[in-house]
Amino acid sequence: QTILVLNGPNLGRLGTREPEVYGAETLADIGAQLEASAPELTIDLRQTDDEAELISWIHEAVDRRLPVVLNPAAFTHYSYALRDAAAQLKQAGVPLVEVHLSNPHTRETFRHSSVISGVATGVIAGFGAESYRLAVDWIQRSLG
Ligand code: DQA
Repeated sequence: QTILVLNGPNLGRLGTREPEVYGAETLADIGAQLEASAPELTIDLRQTDDEAELISWIHEAVDRRLPVVLNPAAFTHYSYALRDAAAQLKQAGVPLVEVHLSNPHTRETFRHSSVISGVATGVIAGFGAESYRLAVDWIQRSLG
């Protein structure tokens, strides 16, 4: 079983980007941890700074019926286009777990709302790289 682990803008900078907020691990480190913790799954980890590319990956997940772990990064807070893409996962009954490294609710006001959460199966935020691991664990268990 393949799981798409999709990451939005600036997440390719993890490791050097505000480590006190986002942790010292790089996205590659997170991917390696996920692979180690779920060896029977294929973790297809991707990152883009481009909204159109991220939307095209969600379309791919809908068409291939692949569960998605999504850190939409700043798109969380304003991308109705990404939400409309994610709504198609919900329509198709494909699991979508929204993840955040930080807990956005403890931060600036603009981070307190997510336009994605309303179409996500669930949301995990505030546990650093562990947020991803928890999301993958849940998907794995829900697949049975
Ligand atoms: C983030 C939180 C967002 O507010 C921010 O724009 C990010 C990362 C997180 O993982 O904590 O880029 O999604």
